Amino acid sequence: MQPASLDVQLGSRSYPIYIGRGLLAEPELLTRHLGNGKVVIVTNTTVAPLYLEKLRQPLGDRVALVKVIPDGEEHKNIAVLSDLYDALLEARCERSCTLVALGGGVIGDITGFAAATYQRGVSFVQVPTTLLAQVDSSVGGKTAVNHPRGKNMIGAFHQPRAVIADTDTLSTLPAREFSAGLAEVVKYGLIGDAPFHEWIVRHAADIAGRDAGCLMEIVRRSCLNKARVVAADEREEEGGSRALLNFGHTFGHALETATGYRQLLHGEAVAIGMVLAARFSSALGWLPGAEVAALERLLAGFGLPVEIPAGIEGPRLLSLMRGDKKSSAGRIRLVLLRRLGEAVLSADFREENLLACLQDASRVTEAGAA
Ligand code: NAD
Ligand code: GLY
Repeated sequence: MQPASLDVQLGSRSYPIYIGRGLLAEPELLTRHLGNGKVVIVTNTTVAPLYLEKLRQPLGDRVALVKVIPDGEEHKNIAVLSDLYDALLEARCERSCTLVALGGGVIGDITGFAAATYQRGVSFVQVPTTLLAQVDSSVGGKTAVNHPRGKNMIGAFHQPRAVIADTDTLSTLPAREFSAGLAEVVKYGLIGDAPFHEWIVRHAADIAGRDAGCLMEIVRRSCLNKARVVAADEREEEGGSRALLNFGHTFGHALETATGYRQLLHGEAVAIGMVLAARFSSALGWLPGAEVAALERLLAGFGLPVEIPAGIEGPRLLSLMRGDKKSSAGRIRLVLLRRLGEAVLSADFREENLLACLQDASRVTEAGAA
């Protein structure tokens, strides 16, 4: 199976994404992007015992610092970031240094933000080890930490020098985390690549079984889609296409908030959100009901939830959705499907119809729980 390499085309800030099996054992993929300065590896307590030595050993004494931070979204914060700045200064890292993010989206986001801000910006390389990070968060240059008042509230756009996605690292990923990443994979087909969606449906069993060839293909095709969108709209400008990557996310973020960020992984909330967005698209007469039902079967087959968790009422979700970053002049805007493979950002609906859709979904949950 040949590794793949594709480019995120951003003029002088363009960079390659390498995708393949065993890439951690090919240090030249990394060294060609390191420049002459010190190298700093940032990882966490779960990933370090699995993959740190593989990455570090070939780099020898070029590695000036390894920062292992605690595992978990709750550590993607300003205190941990500040600790990382302290370590960089103590290790006398200069502007020529390169930070290497080894881990999932949490490590990628915090390392990327440290790189965006340390000494007004240094280079960084993403070495993503979760499916979500390989297909989404490592590509596109969104970096951030959380603030007590909101997720990803402090951040910057800062593109990496390269992304190295070794799909063999996915073999150690817990089942729930793998499924959560699949939600984002399914998203790309739905919003802009109908042939990819058909391919996913045809290969669903092998994908769920983590067949090596299928893993390569879902990461490659997802990154192709994301790279195309980012090249067209790097900074998610008003009217640009990057907002479409948030399909299912307005519903999903509301569900994450309503469940206190404890019950659902992000990808799980997105899966339910995509189902709700598809149902609402169908209610608007855009998507056939049979396609919505098929989507629900696909996601459920990947081990993802498709119904609103018990105890969350429609009005509460609607109120949380009003706080979404895509809302404009108090109007909720949603990414909806005109058809399978074509998404639009729309405020062209009545909120009472959206509420009815949410209430129907909560009733399904209550009936299932009864
Ligand atoms: P994560 O980074 O918390 O990783 C999930 C879990 O898997 C963690 O416990 C981690 O330690 C573990 N892990 C990582 N690699 C592993 C491996 N190979 N084997 C075994 N365990 C492994 O979560 P995530 O889902 O990767 O990322 C979520 C984060 O990404 C959120 O903070 C979210 O805001 C962010 N995100 C950012 C973007 C972006 O564009 N920057 C996009 C989507 C999500
Ligand atoms: N994950 C959405 C984006 O990168 O824009």
